[in-house]
Amino acid sequence: MSALERHDVQGFVVSGYGKMREARYLLLGVRDPREARRWIGELAGQVTASDRAEERRCVNVAFTCEGLATLGLDRAEISTFPPPFQEGMTAEHRQRILGDTGANHPEYWLWGRPVKSGEKPPPSQVHVLLLLFARDEDTMAEVEGVHTQSLAAGGALEVIRSLKPEPLPGRQSVGKFGVEHFGFADGMSQPVVKGSGQEDKLGGDDARRTVIEAGEFVLGYPNGYGKLTPWPRLTVPGRADESFGRNGTYLVVRHLAQDVAAFCRFLDNSTKGPNGESDQEQAEWLAAKLVGRWRSGAPLVRSHHRDDPDLGSDNSFGFAAVDPYGERCPLGAHIRRSNPRDSLGSDPYKALELANLHRLVRRGRVYGSELKNPLDGDDGHERGLLFMCVNANIERQFEFVQHTWCNNPKFAGLYDEQDPLLANQPEGGGSFTVQDAPIRERVGGLSSFVTVRGGAYFFLPGVRALRLLAALEGERARADGAARRVPKRETKAAP
Ligand code: HEM
Repeated sequence: MSALERHDVQGFVVSGYGKMREARYLLLGVRDPREARRWIGELAGQVTASDRAEERRCVNVAFTCEGLATLGLDRAEISTFPPPFQEGMTAEHRQRILGDTGANHPEYWLWGRPVKSGEKPPPSQVHVLLLLFARDEDTMAEVEGVHTQSLAAGGALEVIRSLKPEPLPGRQSVGKFGVEHFGFADGMSQPVVKGSGQEDKLGGDDARRTVIEAGEFVLGYPNGYGKLTPWPRLTVPGRADESFGRNGTYLVVRHLAQDVAAFCRFLDNSTKGPNGESDQEQAEWLAAKLVGRWRSGAPLVRSHHRDDPDLGSDNSFGFAAVDPYGERCPLGAHIRRSNPRDSLGSDPYKALELANLHRLVRRGRVYGSELKNPLDGDDGHERGLLFMCVNANIERQFEFVQHTWCNNPKFAGLYDEQDPLLANQPEGGGSFTVQDAPIRERVGGLSSFVTVRGGAYFFLPGVRALRLLAALEGERARADGAARRVPKRETKAAP
């Protein structure tokens, strides 16, 4: 295996920059392609690569397909990207794959929605995502100031929307992990990229479960099938650049609003005692069953009767040996659907191998203020998760997880239920089964706790590819000149 070229892979692939409390995600539109390429050239020198992911401030950058076309990639070059990226998250059949219907339909999104024909004024199309991270507010103010000034210079780009994730005050972490708005520690289970240097501490079963081929997350390296995932190329006349996609990857962004009041009301209503009184202990039990971990992060597979914060960061478990029928962690729990580990099929080794072909490096951060007294109702402020994940194959990884596991009513032999946290539940409420012996319990009345508010597929290029992008015009002009001197060679118009 060739070692990961960490100096060329953007840092977000190997680190969520957990020590950087502050983050800003700027959604940008290209206004002047030539100036924008100049800006990209300057930015390339500042982008944080994977070999220096723990600096005081970090910068990463990614592009939508429309963005790359606006910056000058021609049709032939765009066609070297995979269909989900070319079509975008909001293509009609992808809406169905992702369950983006009803209240999740892109027409209601705050950003990332397609232009409707005749719409005036058309919504600004997102071309670039600039990710900024800093350790404290002062440093962030400085970083954001410098970058917004430089991107706007010469009318290069415009900020369409600035997303501001922020940790929940006073609940930044359980151990070293953040807490999301439903109140659970999040981020404990992450694949470790082979060759990233992070795999050295893991051995035996943990390594088998967690260390994943680099090609699953970075283009240019063998993937889980031992093959190279096709990567995009530039076709600069006279000098095809094969290396454009190498060390790049895809970043999925989903802006997910969470209805915390509805979630807590559901837990409360479903667990009231016979005299109608709330039963806090039962509500916590049901919450853990929906997720597959207690609020501290302790996996139900390890501790199924009570929360145990000492197990908060525990990720060394499978389901097949200890919990094949879901009596500890229900078959339909969020973590079991989104990563069934060794549980699907009769051979746990094979099952794990197959499940590991669908892993995601999650990079989400929460946004919005904490809802203080959820049982008193919503306060009218939006809050949720800016879900992000890195994967080399959007179709086989993110879309598969969302469609074939989370949204699948027949997942793991279940009958008609979907992911209890994520799904767009049917009118009248969805169901959730808690397997138990001798009889299972079926809970009804689940509402849609999460609503999609925006999203897009981005290409997160390697640092070298950023330089190629910045130099595109010069390259094309030079190649055109060369082509004019050699009349028989096919030429392409400069952008
Ligand atoms: C607001 C929406 C969401 C919430 C509140 C949420 C919450 C959580 C929590 C609390 C965990 C357990 C912590 C951990 O194992 O790291 C988790 C794990 C996970 N989630 Fe989500 N999640 C959300 C959206 C999504 C989406 C959209 C996907 C992908 C389609 C996803 C995929 C995963 C995966 C792969 C895991 C790790 C499972 C494992 O390896 O055990 N989540 N999520």
